[in-house]
Amino acid sequence: MKLDNKTAIVTGARRGIGRTIALALAKEGANVVVSDISQEDCQKVVTEIEGLGRKGLALKCDVTSRAEVEDMVRRTVAEFGKVDILVNNAGIISFKPFLELTDEDWDNTLNVNLKGQFLCARAVAKEMAKNKWGRIINIASISSGGCGIAFPLIAHYTASKGGVMALTEALALELTPQGINVNAICPGAIDTDMVKVLKESGQLEQLLLRIPKGRLGQPEDIANLAVFLASDESDYISGAAIVIDGGWLTT
Ligand SMILES: NC(=O)c1ccc[n+]([C@@H]2O[C@H](COP(=O)([O-])OP(=O)(O)OC[C@H]3O[C@@H](n4cnc5c(N)ncnc54)[C@H](O)[C@@H]3O)[C@@H](O)[C@H]2O)c1
Repeated sequence: MKLDNKTAIVTGARRGIGRTIALALAKEGANVVVSDISQEDCQKVVTEIEGLGRKGLALKCDVTSRAEVEDMVRRTVAEFGKVDILVNNAGIISFKPFLELTDEDWDNTLNVNLKGQFLCARAVAKEMAKNKWGRIINIASISSGGCGIAFPLIAHYTASKGGVMALTEALALELTPQGINVNAICPGAIDTDMVKVLKESGQLEQLLLRIPKGRLGQPEDIANLAVFLASDESDYISGAAIVIDGGWLTT
């Protein structure tokens, strides 16, 4: 299998894209640390991983806390001996007109979506560098300026994901020579709790008209790419931001 003898950490993995990525990495042979703000929900994912014949470890880790992030990495190394793969997946979104955004909205979003990725990457890169092999996969968004587009009501989210794109390039430059590839995945609209609001507000049909594929993405669409980026098959890819949006950005 592609990820035999690898150890992965996936943040925000109790549900949605993170959970699906954790299971997909396990299906390819990796042992997986499933971390999120609730350990109880993570344990359910670990039970599924164990059902696949791999080892899992459920950890409570708020990615905005340096202490909890460093503890997660310490416990991963204690349990599995090393960290090979980090999927920086934890993220939050909220919707508000720019003029109504509070300092708190801004800080919360930037802290989870951007600072969280920085804290996790810094903590794991120290371990990966020891083995001269690593994969850091940052979940960004097509809503990130730069490669993507801006949407109304999420200036704070868009800024955080733009920061993720910049961080990905900067880390790739410094870490690739140490054997650590760093890439970003930029999803379009993926069918998770995060897009519930689109369904509830009746905007889904309108949205699907703009997506050439004619459907929402599924978490598996993202997980398939994450497995590839985690494997040796992607050895020559670093510093890339890969859009996975059913063709949305072409419209
Ligand atoms: N669903 C989409 O359409 C979409 C599109 C583009 C990007 N993304 C990104 O994909 C990632 C996963 O999102 P999802 O769609 O699965 O949403 P989700 O809300 O189902 O999952 C996000 C997870 O992050 C966790 N989380 C939130 N704050 C955290 C914190 N401080 N510490 C640790 N974990 C925390 C949540 O508990 C949750 O399990 C996010 O980074 C999101 O921005 C999603």
